[in-house]
Amino acid sequence: MLKDTHHRIHDYLRISLTDNCNFRCTYCMPEESISLMPPQKLMQTDEIFSIAEVFTSLGVKKIRLTGGEPLVRKDFTAVVERLSMLPVQLTLTTNGMLLDRYKTTLQESGIQSVNISLDTLDPVKFLQITQRDQFQKVWNNILMCLDQGIYVKLNIVLIKGFNDDEVFDFIDLTKSLPLHLRFIEFMPFDKNEWHKDKVVHNRIVLEAVTQQYALFKLRDGKNDTDTKFGILGHTGTVSFISSLSHSFCSSCNRMRLTADGKMKNCLFGAEEFDILGAFRNGENIVPVIERCLMKKHKMLGGQFDDYTRVDPDTLQNRSMIKIGG
Ligand code: GTP
Ligand code: 5AD
Ligand code: SF4
Repeated sequence: MLKDTHHRIHDYLRISLTDNCNFRCTYCMPEESISLMPPQKLMQTDEIFSIAEVFTSLGVKKIRLTGGEPLVRKDFTAVVERLSMLPVQLTLTTNGMLLDRYKTTLQESGIQSVNISLDTLDPVKFLQITQRDQFQKVWNNILMCLDQGIYVKLNIVLIKGFNDDEVFDFIDLTKSLPLHLRFIEFMPFDKNEWHKDKVVHNRIVLEAVTQQYALFKLRDGKNDTDTKFGILGHTGTVSFISSLSHSFCSSCNRMRLTADGKMKNCLFGAEEFDILGAFRNGENIVPVIERCLMKKHKMLGGQFDDYTRVDPDTLQNRSMIKIGG
C-alpha cells in the first residue's frame, strides 16, 4: 500500500503517454510552442506496462492516460491492450479529436469512461483557443461516445472574458444529453498566459447557476476533485473543480508519471523522481516510488491568494502539456 507521511493512501496513477498534441490550447502550452521530448526518452510500451505493473502491485486501482494528447501516440492501442490486462480501472483524458479512430480500441479494452476537454460550444472560439478548426469533429466524437454508452465528463476551463458567458449554454446541453460538465478554474503553469484576472472563481459560477437552475447536491467520491450537482429535469450533471480557490489535497490519492518516466507526487510540485532511469538501470523502482511519495507536501493546491502574488513562470513546474493535468 502506498501511504504518504500525511496518511493518504495513493491508489490512482496518471500516466502521460506523450508531450505531443494535435491542438495548441493557449492555457496548456507555451505560446512559442513546445520542443518535444526525444523519442528515446519516452517510456516505451513494454516499459509503461512493467512500471504500471509495479504500481498495481503496490495497490494502484485506477490508471488515467493523459498527454499532451494521449491519442496522438502511435502505439496507443498496444499500450491500452497491455494495460487493460492489469487489475485496474483504465480511463483517459483526451481532447476528443481522434476518438473515432480508436472506437474499437476503447470498446475492446473495456474503457467505460472518458474525460474530454471542450472549452466552448462556439466553433470560432474553438479555433481561437485550440488553434485548430475542429469543433464539429470533436462534438461528433462526444456524441459517438455517448452512443456507445461511455460515461463522458466534459472538462471546461473557464477563462474570464473568453468563455464564462457560455456556462448556461453548456448546462442546457445536459437537459437531453447525459454529459457530466466540470467547470475548472484556470491554473498557472509555465508560460500559459495565466493571469489572476483571467480566473473565474467557481463560487461565482455556482451562484449564477443556482439562480437559473434547480440544483441538488450529489454525493462526491472520497477522492474526487470535483463538487457535483444534479439539475432538476436534466439527464446530465454539473460539477466544479476549484483547484485554486479550494483545496482538495487532504483526500489526494494521485501520483503522476510524465511521458519521460519521471514521477511527480503533486500537480503543483516541481520535484521529480526518475522512475524510468532507475528501471532502465535494472534497479528496483519501488524505493524510488516510496521516496517520491514521502516527499509529498500536505497541500499545494487551493491557495489562490498565494498565486495572486506568483508569476507562473517562476513556479519551476513543467507546462501543463508536459504534465498531463
Ligand atoms: P477523475 O476524477 O478520475 O475523473 O479525473 P480528473 O478530473 O482528476 O482528471 P482530468 O484529467 O479530467 O482533469 C480535470 C482537471 O482536474 C484538470 O484541470 C486537472 O489539472 C485537474 N486535476 C486533476 N488532478 C488534480 C490534482 O491532483 N490536483 C489538482 N489541483 N487538480 C487536479
Ligand atoms: N488550468 C486548468 N485546467 C487545465 N487543463 C489544461 N490546462 C489547464 C489549466 N491551465 C485541463 C484540460 C484538460 C485537463 C487534463 O487539464 O481541461 O482536460
Ligand atoms: Fe492539447 Fe489538451 Fe493541452 Fe489542449 S489542453 S493543448 S488539447 S494537451
